[in-house]
Amino acid sequence: MLRARITGTGSAVPEKVLSNADLERMVETSDEWITARTGIKQRRIAAEGEFTSTLAVKAARQALAMAGIGAEELDLIILGTVTPDFPFPATACIIQHELGARNAVAFDLSAACSGFLYGLSIADTYIRGGSAKKALVIGAEVLSRIVDWTDRNTCILFGDGSGAAVVEAYEGDDGILSTHIYSDGAYWETLYQAGCGRRNPASSQRTIDERLFFIRMDGSDVFKHAVRAMEEAAGAALSANGMSASDLSLFIPHQANRRIIDATGKRLGLTPEKVFINLHNYGNTSSASIPIALDEASRAGRLKKGDVVLLDSFGGGFTYGSALLRW
Ligand code: UT7
Repeated sequence: MLRARITGTGSAVPEKVLSNADLERMVETSDEWITARTGIKQRRIAAEGEFTSTLAVKAARQALAMAGIGAEELDLIILGTVTPDFPFPATACIIQHELGARNAVAFDLSAACSGFLYGLSIADTYIRGGSAKKALVIGAEVLSRIVDWTDRNTCILFGDGSGAAVVEAYEGDDGILSTHIYSDGAYWETLYQAGCGRRNPASSQRTIDERLFFIRMDGSDVFKHAVRAMEEAAGAALSANGMSASDLSLFIPHQANRRIIDATGKRLGLTPEKVFINLHNYGNTSSASIPIALDEASRAGRLKKGDVVLLDSFGGGFTYGSALLRW
């Protein structure tokens, strides 16, 4: 059977670490509160001159090296991001140019924290339909540029980073077994950036006066929906493949909040050792969180041939989704 499978992964984060202790000096918060409510201990912050494309290219080069292919062999590049370098052109085109991937079609997609899984789903569809053979799917963000560093409700959560995966056509039974992606636009105002699009341009007085350039979030509403939606997306992946949670070797959820991950894992009936967690190191890196985790799991030897791995995401939009892989 013609399938798509991940043949290489990569990830890159900025050098600068912002710890909970650093945040204690910036807003009224504490390491104890952040750790108990989120599980986050530190996050990475992009340096001046470091952009989404900069981090994405670093992760992409690692993924290409692991896959053992050249950039000119790529026919598709998809970047999930909500922090593109520019409104246009697509940051994916800048990445294409930097990599020398001259034979690829490149575009960005905006699905917030589900950006990587949306991209993986599109790459899988292109490959199984015969329209592409070698794709690069990237999630990359510099969320620190749209975080209000005076708002303790949000600034403790987010971090910068990038992860990438090379996805190739392959004849066999392993690889991407299924993807399921969903949107629920009824909640678009629950987590969004109000300014800097065309409704509230960056230059408008209203955007400046009302500080619309920053992320806005109703945290408890997001929390509630996240657990329910991630359980639904995970369930869809398992039932589409006639599997149950006991068939999983590893569950790699979006890294937003330790409590969301624990609650989802519990609802699925997973033991803690089957749940991959690295958000204590990076915070919520939105579209980058799953590919960074996948890369770390792969390089740490936690993914063996034949392992069944479930990826599961939730984010602004709302968007959510899952992908089931046989490694
Ligand atoms: O990828 C999706 C992106 N977003 C998310 O996943 C976010 C999902 N939501 C969450 O992670 C949680 O809702 C938060 C971590 C954002 C907040 O946790 P919570 O348990 O829902 O707390 P809360 O918003 O109900 O706030 C409880 C209290 C409030 O004080 P009062 O009103 O009870 O006096 C907040 O003002 O905690 C206060 N608080 C803080 N205290 C210390 C809020 N942020 C902080 C803080 N430090 N950083």
